[in-house]
Amino acid sequence: MELKRKKIGILMGGLSAEREVSLRSGHNVYEALLRKGYKATKIQLDSTDQIVPNLGKIDIVFSCLHGGIGEDGTLHALFDILKFPYVGSSVLACALAMNKLQAKRIFNSQGLRTAPWVEYQGQSWDEWKVHVLDEIKIPCVVKPIAEGSSLGVRIVRDENKLIEACQATQSEYGDFFVEKFIPGKEITAGVLRIDGEDKALPLIELRPQREFYDYIAKYTPGMTEFIVPANLDVKKTMQIQEMCLRAHQALGCFGFSRVDLRLAEDSEPYLLEVNTLPGMTDTSDLPMAAKAAGIEFDELVEKMLYTERWNARRVTR
Ligand SMILES: Nc1ncnc2c1ncn2[C@@H]1O[C@H](COP(=O)(O)OP(=O)(O)O)[C@@H](O)[C@H]1O
Ligand SMILES: [Mg+2]
Repeated sequence: MELKRKKIGILMGGLSAEREVSLRSGHNVYEALLRKGYKATKIQLDSTDQIVPNLGKIDIVFSCLHGGIGEDGTLHALFDILKFPYVGSSVLACALAMNKLQAKRIFNSQGLRTAPWVEYQGQSWDEWKVHVLDEIKIPCVVKPIAEGSSLGVRIVRDENKLIEACQATQSEYGDFFVEKFIPGKEITAGVLRIDGEDKALPLIELRPQREFYDYIAKYTPGMTEFIVPANLDVKKTMQIQEMCLRAHQALGCFGFSRVDLRLAEDSEPYLLEVNTLPGMTDTSDLPMAAKAAGIEFDELVEKMLYTERWNARRVTR
């Protein structure tokens, strides 16, 4: 148990819009590592200047920074440069997963279905509206290219509200795109490395009490009903698990992730995205999926910690 002798620093907080979620994830991971007998330290980040000085106090980084530098690969790039061990996916996988458009292009190239979409490229709002209505139609979903926790995601059901929704998302979160709304079920699949192999965990169906699985539905206890495992037949379950694992691998993810998708009314799954740093809060999906597979929270965290081994092999130290 060589990792038990190492000092593990849990990075949490940060500057992204998901700071509050990160603090909750980080705290849970910290407690789990302590219960498992690891030497864990919380490192709450309020500015990026604090990252490098804190590395002097620890041996391994377990980042719980959702969104922003924590999830877009740039933080992991810093660790690669410094040859500092960290948990989770590589720079490239994180960067691809964070950019929903690049991820969609890769999924489609691998025959993994995603909702049809159009990209906003700075055209006039009137031209854009015509383009969206021609190609995607209403209802549609406006989304930032690189954000998480449903921030900036808006469902548009009235064409007169389309431009307003796009402008709001753009002003809050920058570049955005518009996707066809997929009516149906909301499904998520955790992926976890178990016995040396990345595997899809039992599926979860999410039934939010809100219009969609938005920030409030995600993080307010009681706002979403979780059906674990999702009530789907074995064949459909296996098809979706296979799709999620392939999506995880297509982006080059390693060790753990969470894959979100919509299961359309005709039972066709559409990939939404892969999260390389899934939430670890009390209402988060990855811990729930792991539990359905018989893996308790502390064991999940320990399995996540062991992905450090792979990074250690990949980067020459
Ligand atoms: N094409 C879509 N059709 C229906 N609902 C969608 C669609 N895209 C996103 N949503 C809703 O918005 C939520 C957030 O979208 P997602 O692409 O997973 O981004 P985020 O990174 O913010 O989680 C989804 O969980 C779902 O409830
Ligand atoms: Mg999502």
